[in-house]
Amino acid sequence: MTRIVVVGSINMDLVTLAPRFVGPGETITGDRFLTIPGGKGANQAVAAARLGAQVAMVGNIGDDAFGQSLYDGLKAEGIDVSHVTRIDGIGSGTASITVAGGENQIVVVPAANGRVTPAQVDAAREVIRGADALLVQLEIPLDAVEATLRIAHEEGVPVILNPAPAQKLPVEWLTRVRFLTPNQHELAMVLGASADTDFRELMRQAPCPVVLTRGEDGAWFTDKDEEPRHQPGFKVDAVDSTGAGDTFNAALAVYLAEGLDVAVRKACATAAIAVSRLGAQGGMPRADEVAAFLESHP
Ligand code: RIB
Ligand code: NA
Repeated sequence: MTRIVVVGSINMDLVTLAPRFVGPGETITGDRFLTIPGGKGANQAVAAARLGAQVAMVGNIGDDAFGQSLYDGLKAEGIDVSHVTRIDGIGSGTASITVAGGENQIVVVPAANGRVTPAQVDAAREVIRGADALLVQLEIPLDAVEATLRIAHEEGVPVILNPAPAQKLPVEWLTRVRFLTPNQHELAMVLGASADTDFRELMRQAPCPVVLTRGEDGAWFTDKDEEPRHQPGFKVDAVDSTGAGDTFNAALAVYLAEGLDVAVRKACATAAIAVSRLGAQGGMPRADEVAAFLESHP
C-alpha cells in the first residue's frame, strides 16, 4: 500500500450555488448552500485515501464546531489524524465559495491553518520517514512549508509541492522538490516571471521537474532535463472544479510508482471525474471509479 503524508490546510468550505457571480454592492438569490469539508491539504489527503493510499495528515483545526466535524471527517476517511492539532482560542479555516456556471470564486480565511509550525512538522518526522511521498501546498505559513521540505529531504522522502495559492518562492527550496505541480499562473508567480511567458519556457526555467496542469487541456510534464510532454485532458461536463487540482496532486502521488506517464494520465482522469461532481471532497472518486473511467475513455 502506498503511504502518503500530507502537510497542509484543513478548511470548512461554505459553498453557495448561484446563477452567476455577484458584483460589488449587489445582492442576488442563490440556489443552494452547503458546508463541505475542504482545504487544499485535507482535500489532497482525502483524495489519496479514496484512491487506496494509507494517509497521514499534518495540520490544524480550530476549537469550533467546524473543527470537530472536519476532524471526524478525516478519521472517517481512514486518515491518520494523530498529527492534526486542535488550536484553542481560534476558529477553523474557512473558504467562502461561490459556484456559478461550473466556475468558482473563493475567499479563504486561514485561522487555525495559520498556526501550523515547523515544530509541528518536526514532531511528525517519524511518519514522514515511513512515507513513499509527501504532499504540501501553500495554505500554511511558509516557515512550516520550508521545514517540511527540509525534513522530507533529510528523510529521503520525495515531495510534491503544489504551489497554491500562488506565491513567489526562494529558488533553493525548489531544488528539494521532486515535482512542482502549478498551473501556468502559479508557475509564473513561483519563479517571479512575467505572467505572459509561454508555459513551456517557464517549465524549462524551473530548477526542478514540473507537472503543470492546464484545465481542459490536461497536463504538461517533465522529468530531469527533457522537453515538456503533454497528457491531453479528458472531456467531461464541468459541474464544480473546486478541489480538482488537489485531486490531481493526490492521484499523482498515489500512482507515481507506476511511472510518471501513467501517473499523470491517471491524475488527469481522477481530476476530470472530480470536476464532473459537486464539492471538493464531495467529488473525489475511488480507485475502481478511476479504472472504469479510463476504460471508457481510452
Ligand atoms: O483547492 C480547493 C480548496 O481551496 C477548497 O476546498 C478551499 O478550502 C480552498 O482552500
Ligand atoms: Na468537484
